[in-house]
Amino acid sequence: MGEEAKTAVLMKEERIFEPPKELVDQSNVKAWMDKKGFKTEKELREWCSTNYEEFWGEMANDFADWEKPFDKVLDWQPPYAKWFVGGKINMTYNCLDRHVKTWRRNKVAYIAVGEPVDDVRLFTYWDLYRETNKLANALKGMGVEKGDRVSIYLPMIPELSIAMLACAKIGAIHSVVFSGFSAKAYGDRVKDGESKVSITCDGFWRRGKTVPLKAQADEGIADAPSILKQIVYKRTGQDVPWNEGVDVWWHDAVEGQSATCDPVFVDSEDRLYILYTSGTTGKPKGIEHAQGGYCVGPPQTLSWVFDLKEDDVWWCAADIGWVTGHSYIVYAPLSLGATGVMYEGSPDFPDIGRWWKIIQDYGVTVLYTSPTAIRMFMRAGGEWPAKYDLSSLRLLGSVGEPINPEAWIWYRKNIGADKLQIMDTWWQTETGTFINSPLPITPLKPGSCAFALPGYSCEVMDEKGTVVPFGEGGNVVITEPYPSMLRAFYKDPDRYMKTYWEYYWENHPGYYLAGDKARRDDDGYFFIQGRMDDVLNVAGHRIGNSEVESACVSFPDVAEAACIGKPDEVKGEVIIAFCALNAGVVGTDELKTAIYKHVGKELSKIAAPSEIHFVADVPKTRSGKIMRRIIKAKAMGKDPGDTSTLANPEAVDAIPTIV
Ligand code: WTA
Repeated sequence: MGEEAKTAVLMKEERIFEPPKELVDQSNVKAWMDKKGFKTEKELREWCSTNYEEFWGEMANDFADWEKPFDKVLDWQPPYAKWFVGGKINMTYNCLDRHVKTWRRNKVAYIAVGEPVDDVRLFTYWDLYRETNKLANALKGMGVEKGDRVSIYLPMIPELSIAMLACAKIGAIHSVVFSGFSAKAYGDRVKDGESKVSITCDGFWRRGKTVPLKAQADEGIADAPSILKQIVYKRTGQDVPWNEGVDVWWHDAVEGQSATCDPVFVDSEDRLYILYTSGTTGKPKGIEHAQGGYCVGPPQTLSWVFDLKEDDVWWCAADIGWVTGHSYIVYAPLSLGATGVMYEGSPDFPDIGRWWKIIQDYGVTVLYTSPTAIRMFMRAGGEWPAKYDLSSLRLLGSVGEPINPEAWIWYRKNIGADKLQIMDTWWQTETGTFINSPLPITPLKPGSCAFALPGYSCEVMDEKGTVVPFGEGGNVVITEPYPSMLRAFYKDPDRYMKTYWEYYWENHPGYYLAGDKARRDDDGYFFIQGRMDDVLNVAGHRIGNSEVESACVSFPDVAEAACIGKPDEVKGEVIIAFCALNAGVVGTDELKTAIYKHVGKELSKIAAPSEIHFVADVPKTRSGKIMRRIIKAKAMGKDPGDTSTLANPEAVDAIPTIV
């Protein structure tokens, strides 16, 4: 059976999974519905999304503490939204200070599980508060002020969270870079953001070995003139290169600092962070998020979708280097005063049962992970989770890519004891919170992220901005603003306009083009079909085709490159590169290996192609645009369609079929 036929068969999962009555009756969302007198889920979603200003005004007061109340919920001048206008607030105050004033001060905020077995650290809210304040004071001492940028390049250790909270506490803007990214990727982001301080560590643990990070950070900031200091957390104790005058050990920086630090209350619209994400060009875009909106959207969605209660143990098994971790490991759970698990290492260390052991050991109640992880566990076999007691779990979640019904069913059966509901949340770096998602009260269809959440408006539309009938495919479009939405691209307003808003501007200014394709079934359930633009999704990691291509061509022997995604059973998609070499260069296996390594170094190991094919020429339009769609069709053994508009149609024939 071909890949497609197989997917089609698997997609024929027509069961509906009704939420158990016990789950519904105790749920946070049901309590709010009862308070408001909503009888059905449909009524709830529709009212909140239609009356979204009133709704968010109420949520803003329910979920956040304001130093100065806002005067106006929303000022929407497409494509720019201002939420909670006139309000003064501080995100870290909402995550830490306000809990420390209550009994929660000694509640565990993080169970930080290091990769080495038995390396576990517990952080109470009070611990986190004190550590954050000390680091915030250290940053102030280095000259960091409100609005300044701080780059953070750390692995999955609680210090990453502390570094972010310390920035937010003093109104500085953090720019976190995933620790799996290369020195060059870090450096590019530090330079683009003109950060004053870099925060990194000596190294971290991966599959029982230490991975160095400090040297990479050094290479990244070597030619970044804005950097005044680099704070280095000692994680592994390995030897590191040292730059006198720039580098400061974290423990030295915080020594003697006061454990209190007054929060800098900022305007609701002041920026909380920048996070770079991939788009259609080779240059990542710096997505800006605002403090006020972030104090509201993330905790509200976590409370309603994952139904967090005071005694839950929440585990969002993502990396804080991506938006999922920003929102749902750091800001949302801490704001709610929840207990969360953080895990540093690899899921297969010391064996592929590690996650299930963590759930058993700490009584995790709600697990949120990606389809790639689920498929990997599926491949390893149901006998691994079966060895552990997972009975503490009460709800499951998925994010990052479309989840195929087969993986969904496996997840429910093997992790969820054949009875737990799965919240498939669709959202983006740009949106900051879930947009489409089931609630604990929603009947589930495997593979579907259900509907737009209360307070959000999302449609499937054709090119003109008309809603397509149920059953037909189209573009995912968000039609109304919401508090956690992106505010801008750092220093690039034109690209902001062009990327999301221009597409529908003529008829519908303010319609946001998400870049995904979807279809809704007869009941209006969303099924996300994947990206419409040239962005790859490898194991839930968003990577631009053009980023990989530019990394390939930066290798001296490569003249041109075209990258496409090929469906993969575990990772969703893997990268295939077609490289045209400089005249006279012979395409050998050694050369392929060198290119893989080079891309890993330039960009990230996760962005390294899984296959490289040498070709004489890359199919292009006359204006030089690489025709990835045509290349992909040919490589997948399909009809590439009309190639007559290409500058070099013969190059299409030379693309090998690789399936
Ligand atoms: C994809 C990650 C299907 C989608 C939070 C989106 C999903 C991109 C889902 C954003 C889901 C995310 N079902 N596809 N539940 N969640 N995606 O910015 O293509 O890293 O546009 O944010 O991931 O990736 P990003």
